[in-house]
Amino acid sequence: MVIELSSQDKAFVLGHMRGMLEALTDTQQLLLDGDREALKARITQLQSREQDERPQGMGKRLPTAFRVMAQSMRPHWQAIGDPETPETDVRRHVVDLMRVCNACHQTFAIR
Ligand code: HEC
Repeated sequence: MVIELSSQDKAFVLGHMRGMLEALTDTQQLLLDGDREALKARITQLQSREQDERPQGMGKRLPTAFRVMAQSMRPHWQAIGDPETPETDVRRHVVDLMRVCNACHQTFAIR
C-alpha cells in the first residue's frame, strides 16, 4: 500500500525511521556493555525527539492500519527501555520489535 505524504510529513517519518535504526544499533551496543541505565536514556531520547519533531496533526493523515502497526512497537520499546526487564526478555523484545519493522516495510511504501 502506497501512502502519499507532503514533503514535511515524509521528511519526519523517514527521519524517525533512521532514528529508530540508530536506537536499535545503540541498543545492541549498550546490551553488550551491560549499561541498562544508558539504554533507558537512549530510548527516552528517541521518544522525546519523536514527540518534539512530529508535524501537527500528522496522525490523522496516516492510514489507520499504518498507525496501528506503528503503535504495536510501543510495548517493545517500553520493555527494552525498562532497566527492570530481564536481559533475556529485552533481547526477545528486540527480535519481536524488528519483526514489526519488517512486516510494516513489506506492507507499506511512502511517496
Ligand atoms: C508502521 C510502519 C512501519 C514500521 C513499524 C517501521 N517502518 Fe521503517 N519505514 C516504513 C515505510 C513505509 C518506509 C518507506 C519505505 C518506502 O517507501 O520504500 C520506511 C523506511 C524506513 C527506513 C529508510 C528511511 C529512509 O531514509 O529512506 C529505515 C532505516 C527504517 N524504515 C527503519 C525502521 C526500523 C528500524 C523500524 C523498527 C524499529 C521500522 N522502520 C519500523 C514503515 C515502517
